[in-house]
Amino acid sequence: MKKFLVGIAVASAVALALTGCSGSGSTAGGSAKVITVGFAQTGSESGWRAANTQSMKDAFSTENGFKLIFNAADNKPENQIAAVHSFINQGVDAIVIAAVVTTGWDDVLKEAKDANIPVILEDRTIDADPSLYASWIGDDFKQEGVTAGAWAAKTLGTTATSMVVLEGTTGSAPAIDRATGFGSAIKGTQIKTLDSQTGNFTRADGKTVMEGFLQKYGKSINLLFAQNDDMGLGALDAIKSAGLTPGKDIQIVAIDGTKDGLTALSQGDFNYVVECNPLLGEQVATVVKDVIAGKKVDKAYTAKDGAFDKDQATAALPTRKY
Ligand code: AHR
Repeated sequence: MKKFLVGIAVASAVALALTGCSGSGSTAGGSAKVITVGFAQTGSESGWRAANTQSMKDAFSTENGFKLIFNAADNKPENQIAAVHSFINQGVDAIVIAAVVTTGWDDVLKEAKDANIPVILEDRTIDADPSLYASWIGDDFKQEGVTAGAWAAKTLGTTATSMVVLEGTTGSAPAIDRATGFGSAIKGTQIKTLDSQTGNFTRADGKTVMEGFLQKYGKSINLLFAQNDDMGLGALDAIKSAGLTPGKDIQIVAIDGTKDGLTALSQGDFNYVVECNPLLGEQVATVVKDVIAGKKVDKAYTAKDGAFDKDQATAALPTRKY
């Protein structure tokens, strides 16, 4: 796993400071103790999320020495905070969070720290004081936006281009960082943003919001930046129903690289897809074990992401895992 995850030693977390002297992870006799982990997942909004949940469940298995308490928050920040409170009350050995939004975390993370329960962030970053969590394992959302924007700049940047954007969950790290990265990459080009609205990372909302864009701007739309595959896939229905050809009348760049996204790319409906690796479970489980054992861990581990054009998607599909 270390092979495809590059550790960024922003700082090292000394796990003992977080775990106290509870000795979680082993018994007095030295035999392995089951590690109870509460995982606060965002919800089940996308194909990417389904793959991420499966990866976490596979890694935090009974065979691997874990008891996993899984909660999906339906993308509601208040549900997620309540889930973390419940994990603290249950006295879990560690808490893993894939945060719905970046803000509002300090109080509950202080409670976890007071209870000597280490917190590990998975997938999404948050704005809280870094001393309140041991480590983060995820993808570089800003770079994903830069890669998508660089493709748009190279492909359409020298002709007048009108773009619409389907944003992810408002206030989430990927929605914020992908917008920043994409914006920086198209700066100074002839690509102008007609409209930008949230589609909540879901297929259904991607379709509804794209229908609204098409009613308002009609054929003047040349480019769609979908901040994830699912919203782009939902938009395909809206574009086809409007009598337009996706991939030709409206070029589409999306982020994730799920099987469904790469299939749309291979069929010519999408034009470019930037990868966001959801298979983080194994690395997260390793970090959780290390933190509980009192070993030093990096403050951040970033997954390596690629990008696909039509031919690369066609070549990748037969062995794509998610
Ligand atoms: O945080 C990762 C993002 O969340 C993925 O791009 C999206 O599909 C998911 O819902």
